[in-house]
This record gives sequence, structure tokens and C-alpha cells, in this order.
Amino acid sequence: MPLNVIIGAQWGDEGKGRIVDAVASEADAVVRFQGGPNAGHTVYIGEEKYVFHLIPMGILNEGTLCCISLGVVVDPIILLNEIIELEQRGILVKGRLLIDPRCSLITPEHIKRDKNREHSLGQRKLGTTQRGIGPAFSDRAGRVGWRLGTLIGKIESGETLGLPESYLDACLKLKSSLADVSLIIYNMLNEGKSVIAEGGQGTMLDLGLGTYPYVTSTNTVAAAAPVSLGLSPRSVDSVIGVLKAYVTRVGEGPFPTEIEGAAADKMREEGDEYGATTGRPRRCGWFDGVIAKYAARVNGIDEWALTKLDVLDHFDPIFAAVAYEIDGERADELPLNTDTIYKAKPVYHRFPGWKTSTRMARKIEDLPFGARAYLDFIQEFTGVRLGIVSVGYERKCMIRLEN
Ligand code: GDP
Ligand code: IMO
Ligand code: MG
Repeated sequence: MPLNVIIGAQWGDEGKGRIVDAVASEADAVVRFQGGPNAGHTVYIGEEKYVFHLIPMGILNEGTLCCISLGVVVDPIILLNEIIELEQRGILVKGRLLIDPRCSLITPEHIKRDKNREHSLGQRKLGTTQRGIGPAFSDRAGRVGWRLGTLIGKIESGETLGLPESYLDACLKLKSSLADVSLIIYNMLNEGKSVIAEGGQGTMLDLGLGTYPYVTSTNTVAAAAPVSLGLSPRSVDSVIGVLKAYVTRVGEGPFPTEIEGAAADKMREEGDEYGATTGRPRRCGWFDGVIAKYAARVNGIDEWALTKLDVLDHFDPIFAAVAYEIDGERADELPLNTDTIYKAKPVYHRFPGWKTSTRMARKIEDLPFGARAYLDFIQEFTGVRLGIVSVGYERKCMIRLEN
């Protein structure tokens, strides 16, 4: 023990990669537990930028074992390219990355289906990453998809498989990384080692708990980690929820605190809010306390890691939603019906901007009064304490708070 789960509390891109990187040096292993190459997790080491789609963020820490557990859908071409690129940049991956052979595969046909479906939906498209995620998970649930270990077995026994040669080749190159990730993590935890389960996407993109159908095709909440790792739900020791100091979303779907015009453009530019996987400009909006409280509840969040506080240095005033108004009535909870979420108008609490740079702050006392009041509000409103506050994309720009 312990197993710490790190998940996104909004619509993805909260800065999970950055937070996993910050705590990975204290961990013996990091495991990606759901989603697939729709994820784009960014970290900067000095001015070097790394974006990970399938490989866990722990790979940048030499002593950390990295695993992909069976809840992830793997595109072998993307994974292999990620491995090659990292090794070209001098990072050892071989022997440090283990993949569960029970991972379902994304095939070229899944990618085609994803693109065709988006195209045929026209105005009603979901805005997927077009990485084949939905079709791969559909085939998995329909029990007709390939699993990595099975496919490798069939290639080796010479069966005709109707998949491109380059695709089969990529699968074979991953063979030496196959391992029973569930058993390895189970043993590590029993030996007292420390493991991080790294989530993809965010709570509001969860297949059931998010803004369906504008969601991804897996469970993104913390409870998905023990399922995907084949561990008891009792094995989870703590859940860290990653929250941006404001909110972004890529793709379609309701977003109650979304802002438009010059303020949105400013937030996008100050926060560099462009998709790490697709390059799409992210939609931007104010902090939404209703969804933060919801995420705290459905994930059982023990502490927040709040990112991008520095982006709000440039705003005055700053707003945060504390409830919604729907058809003239106040709503304190997230509506269950997505059509109703479209009608939700935020009830805002207004904060004076602090208009000072927070990027040099390393202790909470270094922050301007206005920023501290904003953080106090988030803790009090959600009932969850802050464990980490990030004030810049560089590794050093971080405040750790004592329990
Ligand atoms: P993830 O998918 O949750 O890992 O997040 P992304 O990597 O897609 O997007 C987060 C972006 O914000 C990345 O470009 C990070 O480098 C950047 N970032 C993370 N934390 C901070 C922060 O505190 N301040 C600033 N300015 N940028 C940050
Ligand atoms: P990380 O891990 C933000 C969104 C897509 C789309 C919806 C469905 O970097 O936070 P999919 O391709 O999964 O079928 O798309 O989910 N989406 C993400 N948005 N961050 C992500 O990952 C996302 N992964 C998927 O934009 O709206
Ligand atoms: Mg991302």
C-alpha cells in the first residue's frame, strides 16, 4: 500500500499529467487505467515539452515502473510511435513499460467508423477525438473486438487476420512488454510499494455520470481504477481530484459556465488552451462549483490538486458558479437530464481579481490575498481540502499544502 488514484474533475485537460509528474517521483509504479489515445497529458521539463497519449506520465522518472492496465484501449501504432519517440529523446522505455495482454485493441476500422459516424451526424456530431475510441469500446462490450495478447497469438500461429501488415508488425513489437499488470500491482501493494493510478479524460466525460451522449466511452471516475486493475475496491487509499481554476471543454455538449467573445479568447491565450491530442481550440469558462461538488461526491475525492491559478492573474473580476437557475428555479445539484443542463444559467459569486503574478509563489502565504480568498472558497464550497496548487506549467511552479 498505498494506491492513489488521480482523476480529472471537469471535462478533461485539467492538468492530470502535470500532477502525476509531480507525485510520480514518490511512486514505485504509475498505471493508466481507462480511456485510450484520446488522452493528451502534457508536461514540461525545462523547455522540453512531452505529450503522452497512452504511456503513463511516470516514464520520465527513472525508478518508476509504468503499466497500461486492461481497461485501456490500445492503438498499437500510436503506442509504438510514442515508445520510439521517447527512446529517441533518451528516455528508456523498454523493460519499464508493461502492458496487460487483455487490453482491447483499436484497429484502423475503428478509426474509420469513428470518423464516418461523426461525419454522418453533421450538426449533431459529438466532437470526438476521432481516435476510434467509441467503436473500440463498443466492440469490446459486444464481445467481438481483438485483445492484444490474443491477436499476437494468432499472428504467431500464422492465421490470416485481414489487418494491415504494419499494424500486425506493431503488435508483435509490443510482445516483450506484455505482463499480468493486475498481479504485478497486487504484489507491489502487498510489499508496501506505492502505486498511482492515472486517469484520462474527466468526471463530466464519464459514460454514465457525465453529460451523455457528449461523453467518452469509458468510466472516468475513480471507481474505474480497481475494476481495471483487477483489485478490490478496498485497495484504494486516496483519490486526488485535478481541478482547473476555471473550466475548459473540447468537443460538443453542454457547458453552463462557458464564456464567449474577448474574455474567452483571453482565457484561451493566457491558458494556452488548445487540445494536446487534436490541436482544437478549447472552449473556456468560469469555475463551476456545482460540478466540482458533484465530482467530489461521485469520486470520493480526498484532496484537490488545483491547476492554472496563474491564468486568473490576468482577470478582474473573477466569477465562480455556486448554483444554476433553470426555468426560473434555483438548482444546487447537477440536473440528471442533459437537455436540462443546456438550460442551466450559472448563479455566480463574484471575486475581485488580484492582478498580481502568482507564478513565483511556493507557499500559500506567498499568494495575494484575493487568490487565497478564491482558494478558501473552493475548499469551503466543495468540502474538500487543497493538497496542491499549481501556478505555472514548469515543474517548480507548485505549492504543496500540509494536511
Ligand atoms: P491533462 O490532459 O489533464 O493532463 O491536461 P493537458 O496536458 O491536456 O492540458 C493541461 C495544460 O496546462 C498543459 O499544457 C500543461 O502544461 C498546462 N498546465 C498545467 N498546470 C499548469 C499551471 O498551473 N499553469 C499553467 N499556466 N499551465 C499549466
Ligand atoms: P485528457 O486525458 C478532453 C472528449 C472529446 C469529445 C468526447 C468523446 O487529455 O484529459 P472520444 O474520442 O473519447 O470518443 O471523444 O470526449 N475527450 C477529451 N476531452 N481531454 C481528454 O483527455 C479527452 N478525451 C476525450 O473531445 O468531446
Ligand atoms: Mg489532455
